[in-house]
Amino acid sequence: MTTGHNVHLLPQTDQLRAIHTIIRDKQCSREDFVFYARRVIRLLLEHGLDLLPFTKKEVTTPVGATYHGLEFAAGICAVPVIRAGEAMESELRDIHPGIRIGKILIQRDKRTKLPHLYYKHLPDDIAERHVLLLEPMLATAGSALAAVDVLIEAGVREDHIVMVNFLSSPEGLRRAAVERPRMKIVTSAIEDRLNEHAFMIPGIGDFGDRFFGTTDSGAEK
Ligand code: PRP
Repeated sequence: MTTGHNVHLLPQTDQLRAIHTIIRDKQCSREDFVFYARRVIRLLLEHGLDLLPFTKKEVTTPVGATYHGLEFAAGICAVPVIRAGEAMESELRDIHPGIRIGKILIQRDKRTKLPHLYYKHLPDDIAERHVLLLEPMLATAGSALAAVDVLIEAGVREDHIVMVNFLSSPEGLRRAAVERPRMKIVTSAIEDRLNEHAFMIPGIGDFGDRFFGTTDSGAEK
């Protein structure tokens, strides 16, 4: 698939493919799933932070010289889409301990696959901030785009949103590009397709269930 200019696919290195091979295996233990998923999440978050704006900053080094460096230009915050998005939160706190964190709870109807918003709690000044939207799975993109709607309603600029995503479908990316063309998306893999049940193929199963241990199987999503 040709990705839009706002889709940032992590370099498909052999190491990344090897990690995906471990965690996509339906026999993968939960312990390994969490360990290796976290390694990819760390890469995704670092890449997402790279996409935020920086301004020049100079510091004096211990040898008295000037280092012409950079610092974050604007306030940032993160908003995980519960439940699966919370898998990314602890990694982000490790990199950025003081970051403000909002929450959006969206669950898909099991039958229709349509997203339903149950809860939101966002930082008061979120409209002034750049937002890392943490949503590991982009299948139909319904849940992710419903979360984006919540951010836009709260005053966040579309071009201030970076979606941090583990696995995406071509259909979901196309829909996101049409509906939110200025939002950036960082992903670690683009799947072949969605099947008739809106599951990504080859896929990884239910990310939330596998990460949080709420099922014994890697039942397909
Ligand atoms: C899953 C996943 C995404 C969504 C992706 O959530 O975590 O939020 O489905 O599918 P979509 O792009 O077609 O909307 P689910 O509602 O199963 O809840 P979970 O986060 O608790 O797993």
